[in-house]
Amino acid sequence: MTIPSQAESAPDDEREVLLKVEGLVKHFPIKKGLLQRQVAAVQAVDGLSFDVRSGETLGVVGESGCGKSTMGRLITRLLEPTSGRVEFQGTDITHLNTARMRPLRRDVQMIFQDPYSSLNPRHTIGTIVGAPFKLQGVSPEGGVKKTVQGMLERVGLSPEHYNRYPHEFSGGQRQRIGIARALALQPKLVVADEPVSALDVSIQAQVVNLLDDLQDELGLTYVIIAHDLSVIRHVSDRIAVMYLGKMVELADRKDLYSKPMHPYTKALLSAVPVPDPKRRGVKSERILLRGDVPSPINPPSGCRFHTRCWKATQICAVEEPPFLTLETAHQVACHHPENAPDQAPEDTQLLSVAKEAIDVVSVTTAADAAAAEVQEGGASPEAAPKAPEGSSAAEGPKAEETPKAVETPKAGEATEAAEGSKAVEAAKAAEAAKAAEAAKVPKAAEGLKVPDAPKAAEAPKAAESAEAAKGRDAAKAPAAPVASEVAEVPEAGEAAVAGESVEPEKGSGKAE
Ligand SMILES: Nc1ncnc2c1ncn2[C@@H]1O[C@H](COP(=O)(O)OP(=O)(O)O)[C@@H](O)[C@H]1O
Ligand code: SF4
Ligand SMILES: [Mg+2]
Repeated sequence: MTIPSQAESAPDDEREVLLKVEGLVKHFPIKKGLLQRQVAAVQAVDGLSFDVRSGETLGVVGESGCGKSTMGRLITRLLEPTSGRVEFQGTDITHLNTARMRPLRRDVQMIFQDPYSSLNPRHTIGTIVGAPFKLQGVSPEGGVKKTVQGMLERVGLSPEHYNRYPHEFSGGQRQRIGIARALALQPKLVVADEPVSALDVSIQAQVVNLLDDLQDELGLTYVIIAHDLSVIRHVSDRIAVMYLGKMVELADRKDLYSKPMHPYTKALLSAVPVPDPKRRGVKSERILLRGDVPSPINPPSGCRFHTRCWKATQICAVEEPPFLTLETAHQVACHHPENAPDQAPEDTQLLSVAKEAIDVVSVTTAADAAAAEVQEGGASPEAAPKAPEGSSAAEGPKAEETPKAVETPKAGEATEAAEGSKAVEAAKAAEAAKAAEAAKVPKAAEGLKVPDAPKAAEAPKAAESAEAAKGRDAAKAPAAPVASEVAEVPEAGEAAVAGESVEPEKGSGKAE
């Protein structure tokens, strides 16, 4: 991955506020019966307030269904808000009709998530990228064709692609076409809704880099929406975290990563693997949220996160925490924020749901643990029966979502191809070491009690793994670091084989 880090300069508070959003609400009515009476509403966005300054990149992150796309469509006025206010360059655009929005469309553009469905298959690339000129009645210097071809070149395509059709392009190339279309009229604000989540991992970096370069070249302001913090980490100046229609934290990128204040942000961050070879062997804790996101039709009372938060107290269930600036340019909505004074009165009794809210998993790089074991002469079988429920990454309730849980088999696959059966054994050994490690280090979160009772089904498994580790000979050990390399940096292996091709890539990588 060659994602360059964002310009080191902190966002400048003096920059012009390009977009101002106040109390933005969007409720989608649910209607039933012959008379189509409204019986409920999906509270997709429920009171967002934030600014976007000229030239900055605001990253918006949150789990699927938390209202990110709805927010993107509201600020680009593709949707009419239920209430609240949207200002663009000081002009209230909240309720402008289509005709009055038309001139503003030049300045505010959107890049969509799915490059497969967002391009009309019957139109040529020239028609698609040239459409904004036609719609706006703009005649660029040198003509539309020349300008479009220039734009295609700028986004890494060829001017000869002008007469081709979308089906002739790969996912990454289609997204480049979408970007060319959005940037054709040189807008001021670009809202990119999950611009890379439908693409292969290797292509994601290229498209993110392209957006970054174009921002510098064209002086663009971005709102980039993602469900994955690793995508926006490199390009954002500030990051907003959304949960169930609300903004729960908004901070400078560095502040958010170094000292997240909202428990939800902390959980999101801890789930992101750090692909840094220097950190190999470093032990880290992962917070795995157990429950699903509640329905936005009937969201939880008080703090909407209280049904999944390990710090939730009585007040969290009844009183909505205000979105406060607790540190310079760091806003958070939480009664008991991390790294800041408690906002709640003396009410520290945890809710019962809080005690069951998360699993905390201690993760060490598999290969290092395996190597350590080789030196020690194998994992201790006695450790196995002590494994508490939820302490193993592979067996926790949300195991399939933990990066480590999915990394181990990947490591096995990749190494198998490279080194044959030797590597498989090494990967097995690494897995065994991981199981033994997890068994040895049951972790408890603040305020969370990890059950002490051993889980009968887990014990023999862990013992088996320990056996596997014990049984292998020392000659096979050197293969382990290879497994770890692939496990830690999955992109590296994929990047080597994947490339953008002009061949159609039917159905490839529809992530969501
Ligand atoms: N047009 C719509 N009508 C009804 N509900 C909608 C509509 N669009 C989105 N929603 C609902 O609003 C919620 C937020 O959706 P969305 O903004 O797409 O979330 P995200 O982009 O974060 O995944 C979801 O529960 C979704 O089902
Ligand atoms: S501590 Fe309370 S207010 Fe803060 S996130 Fe948890 S439930 Fe919400
Ligand atoms: Mg979305």
